[in-house]
Amino acid sequence: MQAVHTVAELRTALAGQAGTALVPTMGNLHAGHISLVELAKRHGSPVVASIFVNPLQFGPGEDFERYPRTLAADCEKLAGAGCDIVFAPDVAEMYPVPQTFTVQPPDSLANDLCGAFRPGHFSGVATVVLKLFNLVQPRVAVFGKKDFQQLRVIRELVRQFNLPIDIEAGETLREADGLAMSSRNAYLGAPERLQAPMLQRELAAVAAAVRAGERDFEALCDAAGRRLKMAGWRVDYVALRDAETLLAATRASTRLVVLGAAWLGSTRLIDNLDFGLDGPA
Ligand code: PAF
Repeated sequence: MQAVHTVAELRTALAGQAGTALVPTMGNLHAGHISLVELAKRHGSPVVASIFVNPLQFGPGEDFERYPRTLAADCEKLAGAGCDIVFAPDVAEMYPVPQTFTVQPPDSLANDLCGAFRPGHFSGVATVVLKLFNLVQPRVAVFGKKDFQQLRVIRELVRQFNLPIDIEAGETLREADGLAMSSRNAYLGAPERLQAPMLQRELAAVAAAVRAGERDFEALCDAAGRRLKMAGWRVDYVALRDAETLLAATRASTRLVVLGAAWLGSTRLIDNLDFGLDGPA
């Protein structure tokens, strides 16, 4: 595996390649990321993983500074997974001049769900992802379903800007107790770590009730949020949406997603479960 840190090195490494598969990451890789690399390998070659903690997508007071940076260990994992190229630029390489041109996702996506609690976040994500797409020029790019709203934003970016890139979605990988794998799980203290799977359990309870025929979506989400609060979580939202549009689920929706974001102490966790109303989730 080749590790490159500059745009010039990246362009040289990719010269003449037409079927590149890109896996954008912020590093601190876990098995979930590795499964995205494996998915990428099925869809293109060479496989490029980017590692870049993107300041544009962090708000003031968020965890940009403390976000774990573990490049050497990440490179080992990527090499083991059969990744061909890792692109790990620093901030000055990605943003040699202030990034005053930015991508603004539609309000309905940018200011909803996580966007309502993290102003500017999805603009930061869309802007860096568009830059990565321009730098790598992949034929396919892989994103995890764990960041379900982000996936929706990227699909819309590709659609509205006619980018010739297929977006593949990787399933969320979970720890044995159900907690979705996330780099931010490393922030959890031992008691918080024990409590963390509750978010997933509450989302699963909402999904199960809907699949059993319950149609008061708001009441179900409110009840899940209340139970989380009672257990000491600070809840940003629990919401049930149409999985295709991410708009409010209606009785006509056939594929739904229940999404949640909540804090345990100073750690914000997100999770979601998408499911069909007929057949298995
Ligand atoms: O999902 C992430 O890790 C980031 O949001 C991404 C897509 C790499 C953009 O910085």
